[in-house]
Amino acid sequence: MCGIFAYCSFLQEKDRKTICEILCNGLARQEYRGYDSAGIGIDGDKPGEMFFFKEVGKVAGLRKKIAESNVDTSKTFLSQVSIAHTRWATHGPPSIVNCHPLKSDPKAEFTVVHNGIVTNAAALRLVLQKRGYKFESETDTEAVAILSKYIYDSQPDKRPSFTELVKTVLKELEGSFAFVFKSSHYPNEAVTARRGSPLLIGVKTEKKLKVDFVDVEFAGPDSDAKSGSTLAPPAASAGGLLVPPAGPSMLRTQSRAFMSEDGLPQPIEFFVASDASAIIEHTKRVLYLEDDDIAHIAEGELHIHRLRRNEETGGAPQAQHRTIETLEIELAEIMKGKFDHFMQKEIYEQPESVVNTMRGRVNFDQHVITLGGLRAYLNIIRRGRRIVFCACGTSYHSAIATRAIFEELTEIPVSVELASDFLDRKTPIFRDDVCVFVSQSGETADTILALRYCLERGALCVGVVNTVGSTISRETHCGVHINAGPEIGVASTKAYTSQYIALLMVALQLSEDRISLTERRNQIIEGLHALPGQIKRVLEGDKGLQELATGVLANQRSLLIMGRGYQYATCLEGALKIKEISYMHSEGILAGELKHGPLALIDENMPVIIVMTQDSLYPKVQSAYSQITARKAQPIVVCNEDDDGIPKGCKTIRVPRTVDCLQGIINIIPLQLLSYHLAVKNGFDVDFPRNLAKSVTTE
Ligand code: AGP
Ligand code: GLU
Repeated sequence: MCGIFAYCSFLQEKDRKTICEILCNGLARQEYRGYDSAGIGIDGDKPGEMFFFKEVGKVAGLRKKIAESNVDTSKTFLSQVSIAHTRWATHGPPSIVNCHPLKSDPKAEFTVVHNGIVTNAAALRLVLQKRGYKFESETDTEAVAILSKYIYDSQPDKRPSFTELVKTVLKELEGSFAFVFKSSHYPNEAVTARRGSPLLIGVKTEKKLKVDFVDVEFAGPDSDAKSGSTLAPPAASAGGLLVPPAGPSMLRTQSRAFMSEDGLPQPIEFFVASDASAIIEHTKRVLYLEDDDIAHIAEGELHIHRLRRNEETGGAPQAQHRTIETLEIELAEIMKGKFDHFMQKEIYEQPESVVNTMRGRVNFDQHVITLGGLRAYLNIIRRGRRIVFCACGTSYHSAIATRAIFEELTEIPVSVELASDFLDRKTPIFRDDVCVFVSQSGETADTILALRYCLERGALCVGVVNTVGSTISRETHCGVHINAGPEIGVASTKAYTSQYIALLMVALQLSEDRISLTERRNQIIEGLHALPGQIKRVLEGDKGLQELATGVLANQRSLLIMGRGYQYATCLEGALKIKEISYMHSEGILAGELKHGPLALIDENMPVIIVMTQDSLYPKVQSAYSQITARKAQPIVVCNEDDDGIPKGCKTIRVPRTVDCLQGIINIIPLQLLSYHLAVKNGFDVDFPRNLAKSVTTE
């Protein structure tokens, strides 16, 4: 949701045109996160002056506006700081005046871009208005810009450093945020901070950096840019096994980090973004900020301060430094290639993405699963009283899909919770619970809050996450990366199949000490082996699905998808895909519930898909089939290739047969394709469905 981007260059001559391009590209790469307007703020012609460009709608419109303006695009800057933002409105509608960057006053003494919500903004606004400050937007963010100016104005005798000033501002704020601050009083400096919303900083230099970490400065009130060194031992680990390994143990000084190996200050560029995809084209060297980190960029250096020590708020001591990591994604991975949409590309990637999820973890010869990130925790999990899955949307469905196999293989009671409801109910959680948080982005606010709730109660917290370095991957005790590669389309597709497999692998590994289950495990592992080829076969049937979307389903307003057992999750997920991108009402129905209500919906006009692949529940689904056809429904049947029991004349979607607990991976693919074609047929924006965002970073 929303994208922040800031570009800080030091001793690197850049013209204004290049700077604007870097900013707009940074925003465009984050478009997939969802937004409704975009803006940039760059240095003006005179010292302290700023130029703003803002546009409602797409980044392409913003680019056009910049191109049509009459600013001198050839003007060069040896060092500069510029900020940019795509907004997903929470306070005030999408409009030019509500667009970020927001400024404190007409002269733009302080400017801010913000992701998230400041929940006490209304109270701040009142206080500031009483003191004579004028607001022009309806946003919560403007209160932050004006508060910055107020704090600056109120200390005329001893001006604070930029970091100190921002610290004071942040202490007044409630809610969740990521910010970048820029100010005419602190030229060529930027301060960026987060609490609840993701932020990372890319570092680009020509010469190699001297060290690959930045110390966190816990020192007194004025530990600012030029304030020298902090001597700190390396951290054990901030979170779980998903945390990258700590750097070498040595004494180091803060400022050395950004010198080249010969010890001299060097030209350097910093890129601040909400998402790695915006940085990857410039550099692969990145540093992820933690909650309550405040990063100060000035004079070619980056300093990290803390708003407060975790211990002060009862939390665990935090890491003493932030590692500069190397990103592993390639630019090509976040481009569409030969496909029309990211979603289509991602559906088609599944034969490879499922392999990537299993790579190095499944030994098909010996039928052994090894999940490195869980190894040390297996016994604790096995001893757990119950397993609680917590997730939202598609990630929740992957937990529903694998719940039965977890119960079968581990014999531990399993509950699956929607993160928001879990929190609403204040579900009791105890030290001997194992809580598993499933998330593609690793940044979903509800899931993060549920995670923190469980951490506070002492449960073992396991992450099943796609995005390396994300909040959930850092804050859990241990976990598994699903390794599906970046997923850009808002509708989650390849992440679902990879989450499914990752969860299944966890269940398999947990049961490895149960001899009686060896045969079952081997059967599943054999099934996993055949999966990529079977997914390819389903994709070959794409044309038939396109015909369904443009034929019988073309003008329908509603679609019921029913099934039971392992296929209930397929129905829920298929229906979510359809409503989310084709805006058609669709409902996943547990076939066992049919006669308790939904059957009343059935007549000859109600479109139905029934998932009837062959497993032990097949006879029961057949009975549901009879019940609906008796009411004149003409269901489309998802069935196995070799099933000759399907009545003649019935429309079918044929899929390869696999082990019962894997069949859902195969069965979801035609439904993904169907939803895609329904959306394309209706001319909808497949990758950016209305009202939705890829990363839901607000509650
Ligand atoms: C999936 O198609 C949806 N866009 C959505 O339900 C998503 O799965 C949900 O918001 C959870 O996201 P996460 O996996 O990144 O936590
Ligand atoms: N709450 C802010 C606004 O409405 C920021 C929203 C966002 O994350 O884009 O402007």
